Amino acid sequence: MSKHTTHNRLAWVDRELGRLQRGGLHRQLRTRLGPQGPGLRLDDWQGTSFGSNDYLGLAADRRLAEAVAEAVRKEGWGSGASPLLAGSADAHRWLEARLAEFEDTEAALVFGSGFAANSGTIAALAGSGDAVFADRKNHASLLDGCRLSRADVRVYPHNNVAQLGRLLARAGRYRRRLIVTDSVFSMDGDLAPLAELADLAERHDAMLLVDEAHATGVFGRHGRGVAEMLGVESRVDVRVGTLSKALGSIGGFVAGSRSLVEWLINRARPYVFSTAMPAAAAAAATVALDIVRDEPQRREQLLARANETRRRLAEQGWNVGPSASPIVPIVLGEPERAVRLAEQLFDRGFYVPAIRPPTVPEGESCLRLSFTWAHTAEQLDGLVETLAKLRDTV
Ligand SMILES: Cc1ncc(COP(=O)(O)O)c(C=O)c1O
Repeated sequence: MSKHTTHNRLAWVDRELGRLQRGGLHRQLRTRLGPQGPGLRLDDWQGTSFGSNDYLGLAADRRLAEAVAEAVRKEGWGSGASPLLAGSADAHRWLEARLAEFEDTEAALVFGSGFAANSGTIAALAGSGDAVFADRKNHASLLDGCRLSRADVRVYPHNNVAQLGRLLARAGRYRRRLIVTDSVFSMDGDLAPLAELADLAERHDAMLLVDEAHATGVFGRHGRGVAEMLGVESRVDVRVGTLSKALGSIGGFVAGSRSLVEWLINRARPYVFSTAMPAAAAAAATVALDIVRDEPQRREQLLARANETRRRLAEQGWNVGPSASPIVPIVLGEPERAVRLAEQLFDRGFYVPAIRPPTVPEGESCLRLSFTWAHTAEQLDGLVETLAKLRDTV
């Protein structure tokens, strides 16, 4: 509201904010001071963070920063226009060529964010007269893409292949069918049964879109994700990833056939109607892809340490759900319990975000731990020992 407005038609917002506060659902913005990493400064707090998606520790890597600095020196910062209106530079083309090579696909296309890649791609692939089948725990960007598409949306219970099969069996009358799923679910850290989903897609003539946002750079022999790890890449029609998590940059991408990419250039609205990401961000992501190729020990060590830490937490009696990735939830149920434990950890020098509805369903509030390659053994031990002491307080 302008400081000079006399009527407040947004008074209801204050009432709703009060309701969020009373229900333990209010979220507060904190300000990071200094680089992203396990050693973190937030406002006047300093401690160890388990709250980033910087899985390979590249967000503050010197090599990415140098690539950005060099690109900015050469080309400046802003890209000034959408990709189709000369906003797309040679740095974007190189990144897309490297992404296609990395993903072993015909082509790739870079979007301003992973959110834009997901929402824009789904809406470009499905429309009125089509049906989209979505896992209940899919990321918000997939859900929003489903809503934007105007297709009929069928949400199936989390990872419930049998129920999805029943829904598909009744969907023969639709013009086209599209199955969309995360490969690593962003809050529970568990994996989608991609081989079974690919079976169903083939049986029912459905397209399969897999969002590897939390898996790119982390899973698979070359770091391409869960589809690579499970050997089903050739059965996934549309692969979406993000440059902003393990790759330490910003932006999203789609990898697949040449015609898919050409279709998205023409029809994905967040691609067509939004300014291209700065060329310097593309340069940073290109360097990150080299690091993923040249330093496989980062993902190997990350997964080994995450598995070990998860095992230790489960041994202490924490409910870590079905996690099988560097994302490990501590499931507590009620939002107040999650907030209390997060505050106790914060007071002891550990930042772990409390995740509450609407990010997770009612009754599934949790603490979301995410491990990165950059965490030291001492930091992991410190967390595990502190959680052991807090076990009986929540
Ligand atoms: C599963 C999943 N997909 C997509 C995204 C969006 O990616 P980006 O942050 O690059 O917009 C996220 C980010 O939180 C995510 O968790």
